[in-house]
Amino acid sequence: MKKIIRDNISRIERYEPGLPLEVIRRELSPEGEISKLASNENPLGPSPLAIQAIRETLEEGNLYPDDSCYDLKKSLSEHLGISSKNLCVGNGTTELILLLGVAFLNPGETFITSQSSFIMAKMVAQLMDSKLLEVPLNQNRHDLDAILDSVSNDTKIVYFDNPMNPIGTMITDQEFSGFMERVPDDILVVFDEAYYEYVNKENYPKSLKYIEQGKNVIILRTFSKIYGLAGLRVGYCITKEDFVDAIEKVSPPFSVNRFAQIAAIAALEDKDHIEKTKKINEAGKEFLYESFKKISVFYISSETNFITIDLKAEAEKICKDLQRKGIILRPLTMYGKPTFLRVTIGTMEQNKRFIEAFKQVYKQ
Ligand SMILES: Cc1ncc(COP(=O)(O)O)c(C=O)c1O
Repeated sequence: MKKIIRDNISRIERYEPGLPLEVIRRELSPEGEISKLASNENPLGPSPLAIQAIRETLEEGNLYPDDSCYDLKKSLSEHLGISSKNLCVGNGTTELILLLGVAFLNPGETFITSQSSFIMAKMVAQLMDSKLLEVPLNQNRHDLDAILDSVSNDTKIVYFDNPMNPIGTMITDQEFSGFMERVPDDILVVFDEAYYEYVNKENYPKSLKYIEQGKNVIILRTFSKIYGLAGLRVGYCITKEDFVDAIEKVSPPFSVNRFAQIAAIAALEDKDHIEKTKKINEAGKEFLYESFKKISVFYISSETNFITIDLKAEAEKICKDLQRKGIILRPLTMYGKPTFLRVTIGTMEQNKRFIEAFKQVYKQ
């Protein structure tokens, strides 16, 4: 009997996103307000300028969007100081990760990533019948030396998320430069910077220079995090022109909808919203760090809008207990870290609610 489903698809673990509000309301009906701190969304909501821009264009919902994303690419080009020809827009970076697998990975080629890195990268390797190599972290950070040691003739892609999700740590400019000097030229280095707007450290890698130098590098960024547009699905990548062309060839037409494009242009300009978001994120981070210290919970210092804690005991149960109190967090079981719990930094009110609920369910 012929198998209808491809073998490697049967082996793929289904991606489990943070529980959506709708599911929590339907299945748990918690009392009072729900704080969704599971998917690293912006707790302030979308940029008000983006909301306004969408409202003004709702009546064009009958028209297909501009498939070339001309205006959004133009805005991004001015924002980044890089040619539009080096930009490719997708239905979230998640789609772009999928498309780069389709465009660049041949069956049998090796795809290297770190253990516990963003799970989408792993799925793409499995989807494309490539060999997936997951390199262990070193003290909760990407181990660049170990990654270089595992590169071989059949390596095609090395993927890093920086800062990394779900751990929150980052590699520095010096570390990344050292890596780029040593990595063979014929390998595609994918650098996922979904959280880069949140990073305050001076020594964050200046990755755009590798595009200017014509290296085989793809930088991924998103409007889902600081810009607050996760529900609209828009992300972009910066890379060489011929790579943009290859990715766009395999992209489904019109995958970035009209409202996402318009909202992204407005959000990019909304400096006030970005500043406010960074401010509440920093204040929330300090508050949560202090709170974790007081209750002796181990946390990993984060460069993002989330903090990962290690309960040193199974995290799923505490997560369920918190759900019943209307607090939704993300256990990291599917990332191979069953004692880790990731909490998105919320508004101060949400952070306080979370800590109060956490104290009630967490017994050391
Ligand atoms: C490292 C990383 N890359 C990509 C994404 C996906 O972003 P998008 O919403 O643009 O698909 C996430 C989302 O959590 C992420 O953490």
